Amino acid sequence: MPKHQVQSNLYIGLMSGTSADGIDLALVDFSTTGHQLVASYYQAYDNDTQAKIIALYRPGADEIDRAGLLDKLLAQQFARAINTFIQQQNLTSADIKAIGNHGQTIRHRPTDKFPFTLQIGCNQTLACLTNIKVIGKFRDKDIALGGQGAPLVPAYHQAIFANANSDVCVVNIGGISNITFLPKQGNTNVSGFDTGPGNALLDDWYRLHHQDCPNTIDLDGKWAATGAVHTALLAAMLADNYFSLAAPKSTGREYFHLNWLTDYLAPLQLSEQALTAADVQITLMALTCQSIATTINSLSSAAEVIICGGGANNPLLMNMLTTLCDQHLVTTATSMGIANDSLEALVFAWLAFAFDNNINGNLPKVTGASRATTLGLAFYP
Ligand SMILES: Nc1ncnc2c1ncn2[C@@H]1O[C@H](COP(=O)(O)OP(=O)(O)O)[C@@H](O)[C@H]1O
Ligand SMILES: [Mg+2]
Repeated sequence: MPKHQVQSNLYIGLMSGTSADGIDLALVDFSTTGHQLVASYYQAYDNDTQAKIIALYRPGADEIDRAGLLDKLLAQQFARAINTFIQQQNLTSADIKAIGNHGQTIRHRPTDKFPFTLQIGCNQTLACLTNIKVIGKFRDKDIALGGQGAPLVPAYHQAIFANANSDVCVVNIGGISNITFLPKQGNTNVSGFDTGPGNALLDDWYRLHHQDCPNTIDLDGKWAATGAVHTALLAAMLADNYFSLAAPKSTGREYFHLNWLTDYLAPLQLSEQALTAADVQITLMALTCQSIATTINSLSSAAEVIICGGGANNPLLMNMLTTLCDQHLVTTATSMGIANDSLEALVFAWLAFAFDNNINGNLPKVTGASRATTLGLAFYP
């Protein structure tokens, strides 16, 4: 039995998504049956750290050194966020049972001959710098069992959002978008997969055209709103093979990146149909919304749709998506009492709790793994 033992049932979930915008923390109390979200915290990355992360999404020179360095650098930034957060909450490390650390995904290749997924932000360093037990490496065992290692959020979505009277879709619009489908008849046909790009291409294209601008995102879609959707570009992108693949499927920024966009854009730029950079921005937003809406429509004729993740904070995107989902009831996690930005971090607090309590974290029907299993590995201070 490890010497490090804590009496409370407080867990911290730590999420750093593919947008590489920053670190989301959720402090969760599992001593009640209701799983109380006590508080949340956000620490943005500085531009240099963000650039270091994004540079590792795609193969390049000197990767081992760059990834090794970033592994430790991120652990330090994670620890700074955790230590500030617990102090802010008038807690000490002794009050926290464990941190559930998703880490930062820098490569996700679940369908290669030797499938793998790689999250960095050193778990052992984080445990030592915070003096708190860390549960990490949540995706590895699901991959080892033949699964995609993703998405891991559906088991928890099912526990808190399933509704006997209505189909429910939970859609997380991060860098990549993922959906959990909870059919009203019961729990057996839960499905979940990545629908495709969320904010990633929007962020990439915005930055390419605003290199001297301090903003790194198209805040509230203000720039996108000056453009017009280019229907031929939208149709061409929607015809991409990923959107018609059957689930289980998951994807990442090694697939949906600027070169992917350029492949669709180049033929149009050569043709008569001129389009501006802002037209491309709004068309990328339409791609995100249309691919999500098509997915929802294929799953249910009338569902409660709960949107979370950074995309839920973008009013233009939410407007477009709501219009495309007019036969469904669209709402956000925030309006259900869990901040849009905290839900994923909350899930990783739960996955740490699940590890400690021998609760299975994956849904084999969702990930494609050969069986359900507890997920993660423990790292002690
Ligand atoms: N007010 C907003 N206007 C436009 N985009 C937003 C806004 N708030 C958040 N975003 C988008 O959400 C992204 C962050 O979402 P997040 O859920 O943290 O993604 P990830 O989990 O991939 O890190 C930002 O990079 C940005 O694209
Ligand atoms: Mg984020």
